[in-house]
Amino acid sequence: MNSFLDIHTTDKAALRGMIDNARRMKDARAGQPKGTLDAEQPLKNRMVALIFEKPSTRTRVSFDLGVRQMGGQTMVLSGKEMQLGHGETIADTARVLSRYVDLIMIRTFEEATLLEMAEHATVPVINGLTNRTHPCQIMADVMTFEEHRGPIAGKKVVWSGDGNNVCASLIHGAGQFGFDFTFTGPPTLDPEAEALEFARAQGVQALIERDPAKAVEGADLVVTDTWVSMHDPQSARERRHNQLRGYQINSALMGHARSDALFMHCLPAHRDDEVTSEVMDGPNSVIFDEAENRLHAQKAIMRWCLDV
Ligand code: CP
Ligand code: NVA
Repeated sequence: MNSFLDIHTTDKAALRGMIDNARRMKDARAGQPKGTLDAEQPLKNRMVALIFEKPSTRTRVSFDLGVRQMGGQTMVLSGKEMQLGHGETIADTARVLSRYVDLIMIRTFEEATLLEMAEHATVPVINGLTNRTHPCQIMADVMTFEEHRGPIAGKKVVWSGDGNNVCASLIHGAGQFGFDFTFTGPPTLDPEAEALEFARAQGVQALIERDPAKAVEGADLVVTDTWVSMHDPQSARERRHNQLRGYQINSALMGHARSDALFMHCLPAHRDDEVTSEVMDGPNSVIFDEAENRLHAQKAIMRWCLDV
C-alpha cells in the first residue's frame, strides 16, 4: 500500500513511472467523450473518499472524473460537514473511513493533518494540497512540460512571486526529476529552505535571484501562482500586492526567457495581478493543458497507490 504524500518523499523511479503511465492512459482515451469509461477498469469495485477542507474546482472535478473513468466510485466530503470539523480526531476519522473506502484523498490546512490521516488509515492517502505542498499539481506540470518540450531533466524552471505550497512542491520536483530551479520574489516570501536544500542534495541548482529579469534569463519554463493563498489571511492582501507587483509575469518579463519558454499557473489565477492576460492567453501558455493533466496524472497516482 502506497500513500502519495509528497514529491520528495516518493521514490524517484515511482514518480517517473506515474508520469509515463499518465501519458499512456491519456493517449489511450484521446478524443473520447469525458464520461467514456477507460478500456482498462483498474478501480472497478473501489470506493474513493475525496475530503475537502478548502475550496476546489480542479482537484475536486479531476479526481472524481478520474475515479469514474477507471471504473470506481467516489464520495465527495466537505470537512466542515463531517464530524472531523466538530472535534472527532483525525486518527479516529482515518480508522473509520478505512472501513468504508479503499482510498482517501484529502485537501487540508496543516500538513500534520495529512500525516496523521496517513498514519492511522489502513488504506492509501493522497495529498490534495496542504498549506505546505501540492504534489499532484507538480505531477501534472511535469507531464505537461514533457508533452510540449520533451524531457524536463536539465531544463531551467523559474518561479516568480510567492514561495508558497505549489512552489515548494515544484522545488521537490526539481530534485526528483532533475531540473534546475530559480526563485525570484521578495525575501519575506522565500520558499522554505528545506525544499531548496532537498533539491540541491539531489544535485540540481536551486537558486534565489531577487532581480526577476535576471532570474528568467534562459528559462525553459516560467511559473507563478496567486499572491494570496487560501491559507493566507485576507488582511495580507494589500501588503502582498505591494511586495509582489514587481514580480508579475508579463510580456516584458517573458522577453528575458528563452523565446520558446512555456508559461504555467496551477489556477485559479487572478488575471493582471500575478500574470497578465496577454501571457495567460498567449502562445506559450499551457495553463489549460496543465489543468487537464491533473486528471491523467492523478489517475496514475491512484493506480500506484492501489497497485492496480
Ligand atoms: N490547481 C488547483 O489545485 O485548483 P483547485 O483549487 O481548483 O483544485
Ligand atoms: N497556492 C494556492 C494554490 C491553489 C490551488 C493556495 O494554496 O491557495
